[in-house]
Order: sequence, then C-alpha cells, then structure tokens
Amino acid sequence: MSKKKLVVLSGAGMSAESGISTFRDSGGLWEKYKIEEVATPEAFAANPELVLEFYNQRRAQLAEVEPNLGHKILAELQSEYDVQIITQNVDNLHERAGSKNILHLHGELTKVHSTKYPDLIYDVGTKAVKLGDNCAKGAQLRPHIVWFGEAVPAIDESVPIVNAADVFVVIGTSLNVYPAAGLVMYARNDVPKYIIDPNDVEIPYGLNFNVIKKLAGEGMEELKKRLLDK
Ligand code: OAD
Repeated sequence: MSKKKLVVLSGAGMSAESGISTFRDSGGLWEKYKIEEVATPEAFAANPELVLEFYNQRRAQLAEVEPNLGHKILAELQSEYDVQIITQNVDNLHERAGSKNILHLHGELTKVHSTKYPDLIYDVGTKAVKLGDNCAKGAQLRPHIVWFGEAVPAIDESVPIVNAADVFVVIGTSLNVYPAAGLVMYARNDVPKYIIDPNDVEIPYGLNFNVIKKLAGEGMEELKKRLLDK
C-alpha cells in the first residue's frame, strides 16, 4: 500500500530552537533590519554591499547551527508517510535532518544566482559573497533569495502538492506573507489539518485547524503521537 501524503508548510519558527531568529517575533530580524534596506531588489540596487553582507551573516550563522528536534521528527516520519515539505525558510536544516522532499518557496541561503542570467545558479555553501564575485558570463552574483516584490516561482508547483495532502501541517509561520500563506486554502476540506505554533496564529479563510500550541520540537512530538497512535 502506498504511504499517505503528509504535507508540511514550515516557517521561521521551525528553526527558532536551532538558534535562528524568526522575523516578526519580538527580537526578530525585522526589528533589527528594515526589509526595504536588505530584502528587496531596490535595496540591492541601492546598496549591494549592505545586502550581500546581510546574507553573508545569515550564511555564517547557518554554519554554526544544527537541526533541532522538530526537524528530526519530521525526517523520521518519512518511514510512515510520504512527506513533502514546503518551506519558507532559506536555511538547509530540513535537508540536514534527513528530509528528502523539500521545496524552498523563498530561495536558499547556500545558493547564489547571476543578476543578469538568473538560470545560472551556484552553490556557495556558507561562504561569503562579495561585490565582484561574478557568474560564468561576468555578471555580479546575488543571494538566491526571493525578495519582497519578486515573484515566487515555486508557488505554482506547491498548489497541487497541498491539494493532494492526506494530512496537512503548518508549523512556525505567522502566515503573514503571501502567496505562501494562501497555500493553506488548497488543502482539501476533509483532511486533518494541524497548526503547530506557541503563539496564536490567525488562520486565513476561517479554516478549521487542530491547534497544537507548542514550540516546534515538542509540537512535532505531539503531532507524531497523534498521527501514529491512530
Ligand atoms: P515569522 O517571523 O513571521 O513567524 C514566525 C512564527 O513562528 C510565529 O508565528 C511565531 O509564533 C512562531 N514561533 C516562534 N518560535 C517558535 C518555535 N520555537 N517553534 C514554533 N514556532 C515558533 O516567520 P515566517 O512566517 O516564516 O521571507 O515569515 C515568512 C517570510 O517572511 C519569511 O520567509 C521571510 C520573511 O520576511 C523573506 O525573507 C522573503
């Protein structure tokens, strides 16, 4: 018998217990930096060094952190479920925990692409990228991140994945950023839906979610129990 599909939409809270700041909690990244200074195409045009440095710091931090219990339980669930992760996170902690099917909606910190030829994508790992680091055709490289105001190419692919879910889980996202947040409306009515977050999250479209009001690690433990004890 083929495994049931467990589809997960993850956000910054998934990686919080690994030591990566979220964006909108108190002390979050958007309290320390202005979105319009570091996370838009206009910011990169106006001050590329500052933007490169912002992502260099994020990359350097990634070298210092490890997947947490939440990432690990999700990877373990692959033995029971066909798990597909759709993440807004640009870190690689789902991969490092052993999850296999991961779609990055907002890009990946460990990659860069050419400012002139966006299909030229390179792995940089956790290395710093400077002004003057160019693609094979001589154009400046930029972070492989979907900035505010840019299209989210992976969204089209995500819609049928959410629609095919037998179980749908939202974890560690404030559901503030579209189109990612809009994915929740594509889960079918009759499938169990869970939201794991220590804080109250306003669920769009008045959808019916089972709320597990816990941090990612203990919330995933609880989810695993509920899924496997059945
Ligand atoms: P947010 O910072 O908006 O939301 C983080 C969510 O995680 C909140 O609902 C918190 O309550 C929750 N949270 C905090 N600690 C947690 C923990 N230990 N376990 C579980 N949940 C916890 O982050 P996102 O929703 O991911 O985009 O933000 C979406 C996008 O906005 C990001 O991908 C990023 C950002 O601007 C870009 O940079 C393009």
